[in-house]
Amino acid sequence: MDVATTVTEVRARVRDWRAAGLRVALVPTMGNLHAGHLSLLAAARYRADRVIASVFVNPLQFGPAEDFAAYPRTLAEDEGLLAEAHCDLLFAPTVEQIYPDGGAQSTLITVRDLASVLCGQFRPGHFDGVATVVAKLFNIVAPDVAVFGEKDFQQYIIIRRMTSDLMLPVEIVGAPTVRAPDGLALSSRNRYLSPEERAIAPAIHRALQAAVKRLDEGDRNFLGIESAGWQALAVAGLRPDYFAVRDANDLQPPRLTSQELVVLTAARLGSARLIDNLRLPLARP
Ligand code: PAJ
Repeated sequence: MDVATTVTEVRARVRDWRAAGLRVALVPTMGNLHAGHLSLLAAARYRADRVIASVFVNPLQFGPAEDFAAYPRTLAEDEGLLAEAHCDLLFAPTVEQIYPDGGAQSTLITVRDLASVLCGQFRPGHFDGVATVVAKLFNIVAPDVAVFGEKDFQQYIIIRRMTSDLMLPVEIVGAPTVRAPDGLALSSRNRYLSPEERAIAPAIHRALQAAVKRLDEGDRNFLGIESAGWQALAVAGLRPDYFAVRDANDLQPPRLTSQELVVLTAARLGSARLIDNLRLPLARP
């Protein structure tokens, strides 16, 4: 596996691959890789001839009181894992490569509506930072396909919408959430949990499952389902930001025409903020 740290190097490499008629996939990450990230690499491998993973902790998507400085940076380990996963190129740029003007970024991409709800209400500017850096990565790498985890469901549909609104020629693929055996979604932020907190955390998945079960049985008391989920998390010792039943297509409250529902939650536990979701396709008569 090759490693590139500059925009020029990546562009040169992709130019050669394209000239040879090869299909290129990109898997954007912030590093500290785990089996969830590696599942995206496998999905990318399946859809392209060459796979690029980026590792970049993007300052633009962290709020002033968030964990940018503390975010785990483990590039040497990441490099080993990517090589084992048959990644062809690791792109690990410095902040100066991505934000050359000393961090001043005048142009921001805002995906209105989708970015203002749910996590957007608790992390102002977060999704602008995500959409902007992903657009930059798409313009640097020019991939045919890019793979994102459905674990970050709001992020995934924001990127899908950004790509189609801006007519970027990139196919966006979503990959299913990889979980620990007890149901906790794998996340780099799980390492902030103490052993006691780690034992509490699977309550998130259980609460989502209970909500999906009620929906699946035909219960349409969305407010009741949301407050039961919130309560279950609070009783377990978490501090929920939200527990919401939404239309999976636009994250708005469910309506009669909804084809698929998604139950999403974000909750704080110790110093960690954990997110997860479960989807439920609705059977159509
Ligand atoms: P990061 O949190 O490192 O996640 C990188 C990718 O891995 C995202 O698409 C995320 O949804 C996916 N992922 C994380 N945990 C997963 C799991 N348990 N199962 C499946 N996929 C999982 O998300 C980001 O970085 C950043 O916001 C980024 C898109 C790179 C922009 O900076």
